[in-house]
Amino acid sequence: MAPFFWLPGILSLLLVLHWEHGAGSPTPDKATCTTDHPCPSNLMTQIKNQLEQLNSTANTLFVLYYTAQGEPFPSEVDKLCGGHDLTNFPPFHAEGTEKDKLVELYRIIAYFNISLGNIMEDQKTLNPNDQNLHSKLSSTADTVRGLLNNVLCHLCNEYNMGHVDMSFGPDISGNDIFHKKKLGCQCLFNYKQVIAELTQAF
Ligand SMILES: *[C@@H]1O[C@H](CO)[C@@H](O)[C@H](O)[C@H]1NC(C)=O
Ligand SMILES: *[C@@H]1O[C@H](CO)[C@@H](O)[C@H](O)[C@H]1NC(C)=O
Repeated sequence: MAPFFWLPGILSLLLVLHWEHGAGSPTPDKATCTTDHPCPSNLMTQIKNQLEQLNSTANTLFVLYYTAQGEPFPSEVDKLCGGHDLTNFPPFHAEGTEKDKLVELYRIIAYFNISLGNIMEDQKTLNPNDQNLHSKLSSTADTVRGLLNNVLCHLCNEYNMGHVDMSFGPDISGNDIFHKKKLGCQCLFNYKQVIAELTQAF
């Protein structure tokens, strides 16, 4: 089992994803494979388009985010947000089969979806009047959810896999404001690198 989590106390979130040993060996739900909503056609095309869309807006979102947090973020962005060895995101293996790559994609995007939800929640109180930031965060979240639906649909249609094995840990709240801002910034920095790699791989 490989646990992945934010640094202790990150945001108001502790997200733990765990799955069977070995990346890309999820437990398929063999008995049933149904999706709650109808699956659109051309799923792989849609998935690629959604990845491209996320990739093309990731840097703007990152810049908008750290700018909105105020000093010292804009002047120390590399130190505060980047250059960390933290493998916050679940792993991705670009050389895998399509199925394995889609499963890893799903885990990564689901992880980001939860993190993004926490960032959005925090920013409502930390920067309540920054409409531009809120709208970029929420349009990213919309695309992320559409992507998750499409990936699950494709796994179900093509591979009869009804769910991707993962679980989420409890929320940790009570972090100070600076820490919340920093963890959100690190998340969005890592995301923009991860999403570029994913876009390249599909
Ligand atoms: C995405 O995040 C929202 C919280 O912002 C959550 O309600 C939803 O269940 C998440 N979706 C998935 C597929 O994990
Ligand atoms: C992802 O976005 C980056 C930054 O805009 C760009 O340099 C890169 O070419 C994009 N990757 C793909 C595969 O589109």
